[in-house]
Amino acid sequence: MDLHHKETTSGEILPVVIIGNGPSGICLSYLLSGYTPYLSAEGCHPNPLLHSKLSERPHLSLLEQDLEYLCEGLEGRSSNPVAVLFDSLLLPDSDFGLDHTSPLEWRYEPERAVPHLVLGKGPPGGAWHAMEGSMLTLSLANWMELPGLKLKDWMRDKRRNVRNDRATPAEIASYYEHYVSKMNLEQNFACGTTVTAVTRESGQQDGSPPCWRVSGLQRRDGEILGDGCSVTEEVPFSLLAHNVVLATGTHDVPARLGVDGESLPFVCHSFWELEAAIARGELDQSSDPVLVVGAGLTAADAVLTAHHLNTSVCHAFRRSVTDPGLIFNQLPKLLYPEYHKVHQMMTQQQHQSDSSDRTQNLQPAPSSSSSSPSSYPGYLSFPCHRVAAFRPDQKCVLESDSGEQTVVRVSKALVLIGAHPNLSFLRDNGRSLGINRDEPISCRRNPIDVDPFTNMVLAADGPGMYAMGPLVGENFVRFLKGGALAIAGDLWKRRSGGEDAVTPDSRVDRRTDARVLDS
Ligand SMILES: *[C@@H]1O[C@H](CO)[C@@H](O)[C@H](O)[C@H]1NC(C)=O
Ligand SMILES: *[C@@H]1O[C@H](CO)[C@@H](O)[C@H](O)[C@H]1NC(C)=O
Repeated sequence: MDLHHKETTSGEILPVVIIGNGPSGICLSYLLSGYTPYLSAEGCHPNPLLHSKLSERPHLSLLEQDLEYLCEGLEGRSSNPVAVLFDSLLLPDSDFGLDHTSPLEWRYEPERAVPHLVLGKGPPGGAWHAMEGSMLTLSLANWMELPGLKLKDWMRDKRRNVRNDRATPAEIASYYEHYVSKMNLEQNFACGTTVTAVTRESGQQDGSPPCWRVSGLQRRDGEILGDGCSVTEEVPFSLLAHNVVLATGTHDVPARLGVDGESLPFVCHSFWELEAAIARGELDQSSDPVLVVGAGLTAADAVLTAHHLNTSVCHAFRRSVTDPGLIFNQLPKLLYPEYHKVHQMMTQQQHQSDSSDRTQNLQPAPSSSSSSPSSYPGYLSFPCHRVAAFRPDQKCVLESDSGEQTVVRVSKALVLIGAHPNLSFLRDNGRSLGINRDEPISCRRNPIDVDPFTNMVLAADGPGMYAMGPLVGENFVRFLKGGALAIAGDLWKRRSGGEDAVTPDSRVDRRTDARVLDS
């Protein structure tokens, strides 16, 4: 959709603008397009209490139900109560490996549709298109799926033999893109956009109510010139909206260590720079080691990639190999054999502090705890180590918790320690919206502070700002659908409560509202 055109021809105030077109934005768009979940007539939920609560008002859709009431007493693997509720309704008992049928039925009720726009940088699917590495994704495939289209069925159509329940990031991205067209959501999506500012507009004297202004640039492919090149121009746009939803994810800006020399050219902060170096033929078995910093899954992908090339690897990370917080200690071994292998490498081939001279040839010390010391030649792990500095002569100074230093000469250093969202379109990068106002927003440490049952941003400049997905601390697709339910439910309740452009004091109590609708 061409936003510049939209703005100049209408000047209308849109009910909802969603910033971000990953799974969060797609799922919310589905709910706002009139697809509505109900308890089905023969629907039965394995949790008897939840089932009896749902059966109290079976004629009401989930959007109209009192979510707080339904959530009471439920427990699950997300700290977000609505996420646990919706997950347990979509995939009952899936944590126990049971394939219980969902008690929900989806009805298409176009009269409920709320006009909305979803803005995204690339094609629908968001970060999944840029997801690094080639490893199978972390979650079971059915946990990645969105309502109404079974990922398994779709994958079965795409490839002949589905070996297991997991899919690659490329398959997931392609599934999300397909989902948007199959569900007829395309007309709500504006791609190629970069949002540069979201501000609160006060109401005008002509009676127009206060609302949000969303401004940015949209990429537009121009005409093909005589030499066959096309010119891409960036056209500014500016939209008005009663409600704005922050759904950008948190993968924009790679995290940095903040140590000396981190900007030297041999230090990289993303997996694709490793792939690019491999593609240019810069790394092989005779190269100096690659230093991988970090103990997350992207770091593990980098270790495996370099190891497959027979390039030696030094792997430094802050935690100990037995730390329960380490992701490898939380993944079932059978389901994730390749990550289990990395964990084994990390455990078996630890750098011995009394043999730092050995780091140059990367042979594990004979005293290593490994039963077969040469099982992973060319790999050495440095648990409980941090990088003290990178030096211009391509040497890295690693320091252990006890203060001992080891110097390694490397061909490349890959710092893969997570990422932050880019909220530069909000005042002070959105810091004032976080649980801790003094720190940058991040998924794990400082998510945006929202009402748990509506996902309304508590410290926003005005009403009608929502946030969902990794921005509110939810990293798994499986659980971010709960945010979509909370937001769609709140929008429905506010609309039914007679609010068009909502002001803070006109927010209706949810329980009263639900009763009004019921009578
Ligand atoms: C790495 O080394 C193994 C064993 O020497 C060899 O079989 C393999 O082909 C090598 N791989 C590459 C990419 O050079
Ligand atoms: C954040 O996004 C803005 C707008 O797209 C861009 O100009 C800026 O460089 C980005 N910041 C970082 C740190 O990537």
